[in-house]
Amino acid sequence: MNIHLPLALLLLLLLTACSPKTSPRSSAGAPQKAWWKEAIVYQIYPRSFKDTNGDGVGDLKGIIEKLDYIKSLGVDAVWLNPIYSSPNDDNGYDVSDYRNIMQDFGTMADFDQLLSGLHARGIKLVMDIVVNHSSDEHEWFQQSRRSRNNPYRNYYHWWPAEKGKPPYRYSLFDEKGDAWKFDSLTNAYYLHYFSQKQPDLNWENPKLRQEVYEIMKFWAEKGVDGFRLDAFQFVAKDTSFPAFPPGYEKNFIDYYAMQGNIHQYLKEMYREVFSKYPVMSVAEGAGRNFDDAHALVDAHRKELNMAYAFEGVDIAQYGGYDLLHFKEVFSRWDSAFAHDGWLSIFLSNHDQARLVSRFGNDSPAFRDASAKMLNTFILSMRGTPYCYYGDELGMTNIGFTRIEQYRDIAAINGYKKARSEGQDMALFLKKLSFQSRDNGRTPMQWDNSAQAGFSKGTPWLPVHANAVGLNVAAQEKDPNSVLQYFKKMTQLRRQHPVLVYGQYTLLAAQHPDIYAYTRQLGDQKVLVLLNFSAKPSAISLPEAGAVVQTLINNYPEVERSGEALTLQPYQAVIFSLGSN
Ligand code: NOJ
Ligand code: CA
Repeated sequence: MNIHLPLALLLLLLLTACSPKTSPRSSAGAPQKAWWKEAIVYQIYPRSFKDTNGDGVGDLKGIIEKLDYIKSLGVDAVWLNPIYSSPNDDNGYDVSDYRNIMQDFGTMADFDQLLSGLHARGIKLVMDIVVNHSSDEHEWFQQSRRSRNNPYRNYYHWWPAEKGKPPYRYSLFDEKGDAWKFDSLTNAYYLHYFSQKQPDLNWENPKLRQEVYEIMKFWAEKGVDGFRLDAFQFVAKDTSFPAFPPGYEKNFIDYYAMQGNIHQYLKEMYREVFSKYPVMSVAEGAGRNFDDAHALVDAHRKELNMAYAFEGVDIAQYGGYDLLHFKEVFSRWDSAFAHDGWLSIFLSNHDQARLVSRFGNDSPAFRDASAKMLNTFILSMRGTPYCYYGDELGMTNIGFTRIEQYRDIAAINGYKKARSEGQDMALFLKKLSFQSRDNGRTPMQWDNSAQAGFSKGTPWLPVHANAVGLNVAAQEKDPNSVLQYFKKMTQLRRQHPVLVYGQYTLLAAQHPDIYAYTRQLGDQKVLVLLNFSAKPSAISLPEAGAVVQTLINNYPEVERSGEALTLQPYQAVIFSLGSN
């Protein structure tokens, strides 16, 4: 027996070394499978989804009421924007109690019912964890500001005023752009990368980190299935606060993201939380480059599961965008993650204007076709698709024109800052109208009753006027609606693993209107063709000669003759291919 022990040990070691845990690919070269790779995520902004008590604010009971609707979409997981107690300076991204539910949204009993209702339908729940900062109304901050030797003092970043003014730090939401706020109580400044009511937590303090892990475990014990870490790439800081070069704020990500000990903190979080529960993990932002992103998510790193990078969603700005650039960005990211790591695929969220208004065409003639086309893109790329509530209908920008209409602190304080800098305010308002976050936060359009069936009261943000025709009830009845197409597309993705795991190849990179690519897994191959333009467009592709079947099409027909195709405005089609 003894003689064989070293041999057995050697064998075990060898087996462990080759085991999938340490390698993101299996021995056959196929990607490692995981539920969070196969999942389609549906993001809900709870404030705007469904109000059940007439106060104009969506609530957890509202989401519970709509569980069957969510199930009918064919999605696998719901990501909820923050639902914790909050004074709502930034709609819940300013948490005053991480273990309680925001009063506007309901109670912990509602939460438990929501979670079990989702699970009963086979849908997972991803929670938003906001720990780059808390609310200034959180007990930790209340304590911290009380005195310089309070036990919670080091939960935040303070700069004693006798050292003079702290080196400039840019704040994203401050009306003066200044991330240091003076607090006379202890004659010191505190740091807030976001609003003055969102003081940054001090991750260099091990006690604070432990508190965060305990909070995450509290929710994991309840059975949540994942965490989205808000603004996490900013958590680690050089607490000596060196001066940054003038104008650094134009590239603040280079100075704020992925600093100091961030990887140590993530590895600690992995050990403390992720390794102990069957949860998925994603952080907002993926650093400054591919190396940063890989360091966050490659399996052997034992940090996070998938990257959520902004280069793609950032392409569409006021004034339009270039399809060649769009293709280049998504292709570059795909190829950088073809072997290790995993990506999120998204073109909208609660910080962006509406999908169809930015990337498609929201004029009545093209709205539906372009919304279907964009959903085809999101649901046919490699990576985990994130679909934002309302995009399954093709909801559009509300396009406010006056600053008084906005509710978002980023818009309101951004306006004040621009005005004090003497900017062209007419242009500022035009741009805001196109890109403001409030565009993506208007109430969900359920039916054509008052307030689109969202609320019996006055909604916190107005309902879009187009809700009369553009709503769930109307689209459920219409076999050609964006909603019905969305459901077909989610079904197609779940029926065809090639759409999840298949290798991606860009075709006709220089075609100005059409985005064409194949996905291939073993001998399964599909061809995706998307016309991003408002005119018919022709393309010729050898792959089109091997078409076997049309899997989905947002038009009744597709004009094809051998290798030559003509796509209608915003036409999207996926073909299965045979070997030719
Ligand atoms: C990113 C969130 O997505 C955004 O909505 C929020 O305002 C900031 N982080 C601050 O928490
Ligand atoms: Ca309500």
